[in-house]
Amino acid sequence: MAKAFEGKVVLVTGANSGIGEAIAVAFQEAGATVFGIARRQEALDEARVRHPDIRWLRADVANSKDVSAAVASAVSEAGRLDVVVNNAGVFRFAPLDQSTEELVRRQFEANVYGTTFVAQAALPALRASRGTIVNISSAAGHKPVPGGAHYAATKAAVESLTRSWALELAPHGIRVNAVAPGPVDTPGFDKSGIPPAALPTVKEAFVKQVPLGRMGSSEEVARWVVAIADPSTTWLTGQILSIDGGMSLT
Ligand SMILES: NC(=O)c1ccc[n+]([C@@H]2O[C@H](COP(=O)([O-])OP(=O)(O)OC[C@H]3O[C@@H](n4cnc5c(N)ncnc54)[C@H](OP(=O)(O)O)[C@@H]3O)[C@@H](O)[C@H]2O)c1
Repeated sequence: MAKAFEGKVVLVTGANSGIGEAIAVAFQEAGATVFGIARRQEALDEARVRHPDIRWLRADVANSKDVSAAVASAVSEAGRLDVVVNNAGVFRFAPLDQSTEELVRRQFEANVYGTTFVAQAALPALRASRGTIVNISSAAGHKPVPGGAHYAATKAAVESLTRSWALELAPHGIRVNAVAPGPVDTPGFDKSGIPPAALPTVKEAFVKQVPLGRMGSSEEVARWVVAIADPSTTWLTGQILSIDGGMSLT
């Protein structure tokens, strides 16, 4: 039986780690040709060893020139682009009085500017394929996060971009949706600035906010990204799907 994404080309940012890696693998299993973007050459090289059938490109999504070159290279190699997953993101939790300029900038640059640069660069190819964009938001995109306000603000921006682009691009047949995961145990937590000794307590505090009583897995998020992008999902746009064990209900 033909797989749903056979003949389709998918670009996933931040595909070398966590949720992005699971998304890239899930699209591959669904038959797509997958391009994975990684920021650091070393991470890209390691990811290539783990997933030799994914086509790896290096780009910092916060750098519009990097992004244009990577997207152009994918489109030129594959001849088309059907799905863009804006997954690359940074979460660095800090209260207001400890939110340095660098911390605020890095999160906005990766999460908001990056999402924008990738969508912009992909637009001509998505218009041609009547393709789709899936943005990765967070439960933090629509819930207050004391001690993580700037991360939450970046994801609120991602949700706003999703809804505006859905309307703006609907005349071109391009669907734009987002998923908003609750806490998922990924390497992102190790890079989040939380001292390693405090990580178990922080994760336990997150678990207490989840009615289903546990953190999610990257694969549990990935399956919904694939479902939203599926070519048979033809009438869903502008939606933010919470995949969070019920967290956003509380
Ligand atoms: N884990 C959660 O609890 C959770 C919950 C809700 C939403 N999310 C969102 O899910 C997405 C993936 O997070 P994750 O938990 O899987 O974290 P992760 O394991 O740290 O993965 C993040 C990926 O994004 C990449 N990245 C960061 N900044 C980048 C940049 N400027 N250019 C290109 N790539 C960049 C990272 O590259 P490097 O390896 O080079 O850093 C990494 O590949 C993020 O958007 C995050 O906000 C996560």
